[in-house]
Amino acid sequence: PPLEEILNLHDFEVVAKRILPDKAWAYYSSGADDEITIRENHTAFQRVWFRPRILRNVSAVDWSHTILGNRTSLPIYISATALGKLGHPEGELCLTRAAGKYGVIQMIPTLASCAFDEIVNAAVPGQTQFLQLYVNRDREITKRYVQHAEKCGVKGLFITVDAPQLGRREKDMRMRFVGDDAGAKVQEGQKVEKNQGVARAISSFIDPSLNWDDIPWFKSITKMPIILKGIATWEDAVLAAEAGVQGIVLSNHGGRQLDMARSGVEVLLEVTEKLRERGLWPNPNFHIFVDGGVRRATDVLKALALGASAVGIGRGFLYSFCAYGQDGVEHAFKILRDEFEMNMRLLGITKLDQLRPEMVDARALTAH
Ligand code: FNR
Repeated sequence: PPLEEILNLHDFEVVAKRILPDKAWAYYSSGADDEITIRENHTAFQRVWFRPRILRNVSAVDWSHTILGNRTSLPIYISATALGKLGHPEGELCLTRAAGKYGVIQMIPTLASCAFDEIVNAAVPGQTQFLQLYVNRDREITKRYVQHAEKCGVKGLFITVDAPQLGRREKDMRMRFVGDDAGAKVQEGQKVEKNQGVARAISSFIDPSLNWDDIPWFKSITKMPIILKGIATWEDAVLAAEAGVQGIVLSNHGGRQLDMARSGVEVLLEVTEKLRERGLWPNPNFHIFVDGGVRRATDVLKALALGASAVGIGRGFLYSFCAYGQDGVEHAFKILRDEFEMNMRLLGITKLDQLRPEMVDARALTAH
């Protein structure tokens, strides 16, 4: 269908499913095991209700924001999703170019299909990009990669901590990985294993020995803010804050790792409570991000009201370029922009910093 008929981010998913080759659809859409966590990422938001305020003069509404000190036109960022060329021949560049035009921040995946340099070179002056890092068993490779990214102007290092081993995504595993058709730019030192599904085939370089004692080393090799992506409990959120990193992403990797992990927005409740009790948050130098299941501006507004600094979107943008390339991503930004404008008016706020926990009723969030 023409782009004008795409009314929301869900519509992109329907189109992607129809047009993608089976292997690409399996890789993008799959989750771990029984995919309960994928479903929960969406239903968790449906357990949070709004408490809108009225009569507040909402004629001028502003949904711009900053993420780790970087200006952005929307309070969301494009989360890292590997292998963009499975969806479109231009791969991640669809995201980079649209993000440059619309002032949205992109997180570049370690396992991008396009070369890292190609992605940073496609950015316009002043465009902000973050890097998602899978830590290599060979730390020299990781060090070179991180320092190169910093030199190229990348503004944040998101270390993925929920993937010591890639989850079992059976839809993906049924599609045998043959040859190099995954379109993955393989990193040095990485071994490709066949017959494991795309995900496992490309991830055997990831170091499962990664642990809290490694954090000082990352701090020693880069001045970029370090964010741990994939925190799932308040206990680890406390350890992260104490380790002196600049933030965490409450995430279950889009339901692709531990099945039956809780949704990020649910974990947000306990994390803000326990960090606050310990005097670790609110803190301008420690940010709590959330991702998983976000398809609507209302999802984002809920997470921000509950204390998130910003929200990541993976599949919502990934699916938007499969059929439409860069235009699809731009259309997705426009949809979200319109949704923010309208829903902020209906909530009775003119700026995002007016969002408060009282603006949502999250009592059902932890009820299963
Ligand atoms: C991901 N995600 C991911 N995360 C990461 O740290 N490194 C990666 O290489 C990938 N690759 C990846 C591929 C695909 C196809 C998907 C769908 C997801 C997880 C991603 O960054 C993010 O956490 C989730 O996508 C958020 O959930 P939604 O928005 O997809 O529901």
